[in-house]
Amino acid sequence: MAKNPSVLPSTSEKRSYVRQMFTKIAPRYDLMNRLMALGRDQAWRRTVIRLCALPTGGRLLDVATGTGDIAYEAQRQDPTLRAVGIDLTREMLVYGQEKQPAVGPALPFIEGDALALPFADDTFDAACSGFMMRNVVDIRSAFAEQARVVKPGGRVVCLEISLPSTPGFSQLFRLYFFKLVPLIGGLISGQREAYTYLPNSAVPLPRPAALAKTMEAVGLRDVHYRMAMLGTVSIHWGTK
Ligand SMILES: C[S@@+](CC[C@H](N)C(=O)[O-])C[C@H]1O[C@@H](n2cnc3c(N)ncnc32)[C@H](O)[C@@H]1O
Repeated sequence: MAKNPSVLPSTSEKRSYVRQMFTKIAPRYDLMNRLMALGRDQAWRRTVIRLCALPTGGRLLDVATGTGDIAYEAQRQDPTLRAVGIDLTREMLVYGQEKQPAVGPALPFIEGDALALPFADDTFDAACSGFMMRNVVDIRSAFAEQARVVKPGGRVVCLEISLPSTPGFSQLFRLYFFKLVPLIGGLISGQREAYTYLPNSAVPLPRPAALAKTMEAVGLRDVHYRMAMLGTVSIHWGTK
């Protein structure tokens, strides 16, 4: 495992490093999310759901669901929707389970890998992921798997962090993201290493235009993206 989290884990170590890290931060994950995103993260998740363009009563796969925020919000918006959350880290799902609604159907959570989804081809009306791509070892395969399990005409939607390039704001954001986030994350979760890895994991991420090309390369069409929060968040979508 990488001792210095600003030095990212190697490809062979990354999967287990990521799982161990999310296991440690699971208890404080939701709180830190709201703080880091200045309360805007749920609005981005609502945009993801809208861009999934689900039919009433449709099937949604939330890949790397974590504590289930996207899937829960989708079910809240349409109680007839059949959403499923899948994630690599059991502990994240355990905290997600605690948020099951008192009424209505329970959200199924499955432990599994985004790079080998345990579903047949053409199963879902849409698949989405939130803040996952920078944690996987193969972004192209992750998109390909989502495209595989979505029905023809269905959407694949991706929410991710993006490092802004606007002069001035870029430096300010980097100060916040690379210095303040590890400090606050360390204080709140006791896991400063994890909150040092998280911003650093965004560095090798392809720029939004390149991410869109990767989606096209796995066969998705009509690929578009929009930026939010002054260019610090990207939302991509494409159709199978
Ligand atoms: C930053 S959290 C995002 C959780 C949730 N999507 C959200 O919007 O809050 C990233 C999640 O990706 C999961 N993850 C990382 N690599 C994965 C993989 N290969 N397959 C499935 N889940 C993965 C982690 O376990 C973690 O729960």
